[in-house]
Amino acid sequence: MAILKIARMGHPVLWQKAAPVSDPGAPEIRRLVADMIETMEDAFGIGLAAPQVHVPLRLFVFRVPPGRASGEPDDGEIGNTVLINPEVEPVGDDIRVHWEGCLSIPGLRGAVPRPWRIRYRGVDCAGNLVAREASGLHAGVVQHELDHLDGILYPMRMRDFRLLGFTEELARYSADPPAPAAERA
Ligand code: NI
Repeated sequence: MAILKIARMGHPVLWQKAAPVSDPGAPEIRRLVADMIETMEDAFGIGLAAPQVHVPLRLFVFRVPPGRASGEPDDGEIGNTVLINPEVEPVGDDIRVHWEGCLSIPGLRGAVPRPWRIRYRGVDCAGNLVAREASGLHAGVVQHELDHLDGILYPMRMRDFRLLGFTEELARYSADPPAPAAERA
């Protein structure tokens, strides 16, 4: 396995619409997924999409760490998960704003409005269907990663750019700052 270089905002690979994965079980896809999980853990991230490691394919890895989930039924701890050729749809019309960070935008956090509850599906490297409902952090990270597959970075979802800032300044000045170890994905 290997730790991969993460593309930062400004690199054109992050603006591309990624292509579907034709063979999720191919050895090179399994190797990529293993390397992406190692890279995500090394960077203390909770999500990583293939375009962030310069591979414009529709797959991402994510996890929901213990103690960070909201505690709602669809937002518990989840171990390392891969989703290939994912589809996501909102459930209901509840939109909430949460702090997000991105491994491709180091040092910054932004408050992003997104649907609170979603339904998603995709396949894993064995071709098994992965289909779940999710809410809270779980739903947020999946939506953040799906956006990476469509060339969208979280600031493009923001409505109030005063809520985009460096983590240390937000911790000092925001009335509702991001958690010290707030998620990056
Ligand atoms: Ni990101």
